[in-house]
Amino acid sequence: MKNPYLPLFIFILSIVTGCFRENEKALLIQDKEIKYCTLQAGVTLKDQPAADSLPHAMERTDTLWQYTHPGSWTSGFWPGILWYLYEATGDPQWETHARHSSETLLPVTRKKAHSHDIGFITMCSFGNGYRLTGDPIYREALLRAAHSLKALYNPVVGTILSWPGMVAAEGWPHNTIIDNMMNLELLCWASKNGGGEKLYEIAVSHADRTMKYRFREDLTSYHVTVYDTITGDFIQGVTHHGLYDHSMWARGQAWAIYGYTFMYRETGEERYLDFASRITDTYLRELPQDLIPYWDFMAGSLPDKAFRDASAAAITTSALLELSTYVKDQERSSLYRKRAEQMLSSLSSGAYQARSEKSAFLLHSVGHMPKEREVDGSIIYADYYYLEALIRLKRLQEGKPVI
Ligand code: GLY
Repeated sequence: MKNPYLPLFIFILSIVTGCFRENEKALLIQDKEIKYCTLQAGVTLKDQPAADSLPHAMERTDTLWQYTHPGSWTSGFWPGILWYLYEATGDPQWETHARHSSETLLPVTRKKAHSHDIGFITMCSFGNGYRLTGDPIYREALLRAAHSLKALYNPVVGTILSWPGMVAAEGWPHNTIIDNMMNLELLCWASKNGGGEKLYEIAVSHADRTMKYRFREDLTSYHVTVYDTITGDFIQGVTHHGLYDHSMWARGQAWAIYGYTFMYRETGEERYLDFASRITDTYLRELPQDLIPYWDFMAGSLPDKAFRDASAAAITTSALLELSTYVKDQERSSLYRKRAEQMLSSLSSGAYQARSEKSAFLLHSVGHMPKEREVDGSIIYADYYYLEALIRLKRLQEGKPVI
């Protein structure tokens, strides 16, 4: 006799295998993009004059990297890319390159930090290196860097002095920039790894003060907040990289989304999760159709300045993939994941990938518009967060934790 449940069984099986195939297809796409990154990075390696010449940026019409030196704010991203390629492929050649490249930065960790950027420099290089190899040399470098960053903390203000050089140059007595949120990760990491409770307290104080003074009512952020060193009072919010003091510089908002997301991961404090979601919603509300923002959210209507910023998109994509795993509201969590996948798909299209044009992964980032540097060019940190996002999405698709 014919089984009456057979049609139902076939129906369920077709749905399950369909989902399975969809997931497999998605994984293949991430693998293809990661393979693309390995090929591009291989070309850069051939062009790189020495291990301590670190790829930094390519202007729009250039086809070769401008290199920077160990200690510049972007010097950790190339070693970070090499570590990610090792993580993604398991190929020991990438580990060798990553080690050589990271080790050029060791002397930087033995000097006094000249800005908050010590966090970018060391977490991308030694942070990834330690995570993947457990090498104690990297751990010590990170602890030295964290203590050096701590020296820039002003307890009266409750935040880190981001740019000591701007105190005299701009007349900003105690300045804290939104980018500095990213470097709290080094303090949190170091506190958990033998650096002491104080580092964690500094990170929390910095994040709380930033939450209080940095954001306008509509939750767009100032780039720079200036405080009085004696009273700790907030004096003003201004810009350095953005279009106007009152506009939303895209990468600044991206740093904030990323920063409050990991502050939730590191502290478990719901206020950071809630805040990360709210500033994300502000960012998502005003994006062009392909979800890649203008470098400043007020620049889209200015004919000579209407450039996209792939770097802001890459940072946000990576952050949203993580944030989507923490947000408890299912609808919101799915929305963040969906938007992240759409952003990653735009970045992986012919419109944004450099492909055979140059050995960078991505085109169309804006580094410093007011100084007319890296306008619509390729920038190493765009590539770093793009690859990070690809790896994070692949992990999620494989059912693994995002990091
Ligand atoms: N930290 C500088 C920038 O995002 O351009």
